Amino acid sequence: MSKALVAYFSASGITKKLACSLATAIGADLFEIEPEQKYTDEDLDWQNHHSRSSVEMNDRSSRPAIVSKVLDMSQYDVVFVGFPVWWYREPSIIDTFAESYDFSGKTIVPFATSGSSGIGDSGKNIGELAKGAKVVEGKRFSSSTSAVVLKEWAQEYL
Ligand SMILES: Cc1cc2nc3c(=O)[nH]c(=O)nc-3n(C[C@H](O)[C@H](O)[C@H](O)COP(=O)(O)O)c2cc1C
Repeated sequence: MSKALVAYFSASGITKKLACSLATAIGADLFEIEPEQKYTDEDLDWQNHHSRSSVEMNDRSSRPAIVSKVLDMSQYDVVFVGFPVWWYREPSIIDTFAESYDFSGKTIVPFATSGSSGIGDSGKNIGELAKGAKVVEGKRFSSSTSAVVLKEWAQEYL
């Protein structure tokens, strides 16, 4: 059986809830992609074009720093990467994560929460950055998704 990691970024806790639920349901390790500089409510104001999230998401080369690294990425076969959809795609900090490891021989499975948008081109974007990885399209889930549904979805990749 494959060894799996669930790595997630969550600014306001919704993706975190799903990530924890998924990790428990499939017996995977859990890793929080924690920003060095936490996102404040002001940072997350998408209506303000000058807010931190707006500035980052308008700059494809933006790579917000992450507090720590996964200790031994080489042990995993499958890495589920969870995040909130920001402006129809993965937040820039996910791009930082994707560029931080050698993913040779691994499958990356993106998953997301959002107000309503789908996961968009996130999988394709991550695939362009994650060295050696096979990256699938992934899936967007509503905040109320049950552990049973998450497990059923994840099974295909394990
Ligand atoms: C900067 C920013 C941009 C967002 N862009 C979108 C979007 O394009 N489409 C959408 O449906 N929701 C969007 N949202 C809503 C989040 O995706 C949604 O609230 C998500 O579940 C939050 O997850 P979290 O609590 O793990 O951070 C955005 C939220 C923020 C803060």
